[in-house]
Amino acid sequence: MGMLDGKAALVTGAGRGIGRGIALALARAGASVVVNDVGAALSGEGTDSRPASEVVREIRAAGGTAVPNFGSVADFAQGRQMVEQCVDEFGKIDIVCHVAGILRDRMIFNMTEDEWDAVIAVHLKGAFNVIHHASRRFREQRSGRIIAMSSTSALGAPGQPNYGAAKAGILGLIWSCANALERYGVTANAIMPSAATRMIDSTPRGKEIFEQTGRWPSELAAGTERDPENVAPLIVFLASDAAQYINGQVFCAFGYQVALLPQPRIVRVLRHRRRWEPEELRDLFPTTLGRDLQPPPAATGFTSRIQELPDDAWQEIAPDIRFWAARE
Ligand SMILES: NC(=O)c1ccc[n+]([C@@H]2O[C@H](COP(=O)([O-])OP(=O)(O)OC[C@H]3O[C@@H](n4cnc5c(N)ncnc54)[C@H](O)[C@@H]3O)[C@@H](O)[C@H]2O)c1
Repeated sequence: MGMLDGKAALVTGAGRGIGRGIALALARAGASVVVNDVGAALSGEGTDSRPASEVVREIRAAGGTAVPNFGSVADFAQGRQMVEQCVDEFGKIDIVCHVAGILRDRMIFNMTEDEWDAVIAVHLKGAFNVIHHASRRFREQRSGRIIAMSSTSALGAPGQPNYGAAKAGILGLIWSCANALERYGVTANAIMPSAATRMIDSTPRGKEIFEQTGRWPSELAAGTERDPENVAPLIVFLASDAAQYINGQVFCAFGYQVALLPQPRIVRVLRHRRRWEPEELRDLFPTTLGRDLQPPPAATGFTSRIQELPDDAWQEIAPDIRFWAARE
């Protein structure tokens, strides 16, 4: 018995990296999968049918069920077509997982309009294009799973204004869907993954590793903590019936760790009996709202702080499994 026996899924960007791992894992868990990938270069240019075809071949070779889709998630009509293909091939759609992504990194003052538009189109508009069409089915059948890849870059990556904005936009979209669709039995959750794929090869750190070892991080990843397939188990679980109670949440999946982010909340309030004078705010801020302000998290090594927790901060909850929780 697989966790997803009888389910049908659409995974976008499933020809490579994290999406490939998710498609393989969903199929291993029993789901029938539409493997979408346009086969673009990292910058979003070009098309290639081989990545999606190869993943379909792998799934079938392992005894699973999959069909390829070579459309672009950035196109509204093609987004609908991916969802329809899932329904036509497998009779339904239960899971939509948006993983497709591209990078066009540039500082805000150098970014062109094209660089902005292309990244927003694939990540954020792409999420809408498939979630919109899938949600119409989900509402009718009163069940469904929406999972989309966000990124810790949403938390302020300085050289990625387009990507960071798209990934923060995905959080807003997921929270909106979570609240709108809960009454129909649908859940929507976002993941901030991390794994050594070609996306990481393109970063300064990726290039440094290449210079030191002669190999790209993506070539060294298989079987290690940086393996992109490590993200997939969380997705399989969230896509399953067992995760019905998990809605509107944001998880980090990196290495062998799964972490929960807090919901944004108000932590300090200044209240007046009348409208504020700017001078009053200037005078009161330093000791109240303006005291010890922190920079947005992506500037300060967001997930790496977990690695620095002392051993005794962790609780051993099962053999080989440790749990840590911040004081709430
Ligand atoms: N790798 C990481 O550490 C990391 C970190 C944070 C977020 N993410 C996110 O995870 C997702 C997967 O990233 P990855 O590292 O596996 O990247 P990847 O480049 O290995 O894979 C992305 C896939 O998306 C496909 N794609 C691009 N544009 C498309 C389009 N318009 N329509 C359909 N498919 C398209 C590409 O062809 C590619 O196969 C992305 O959304 C990325 O932003 C990755």
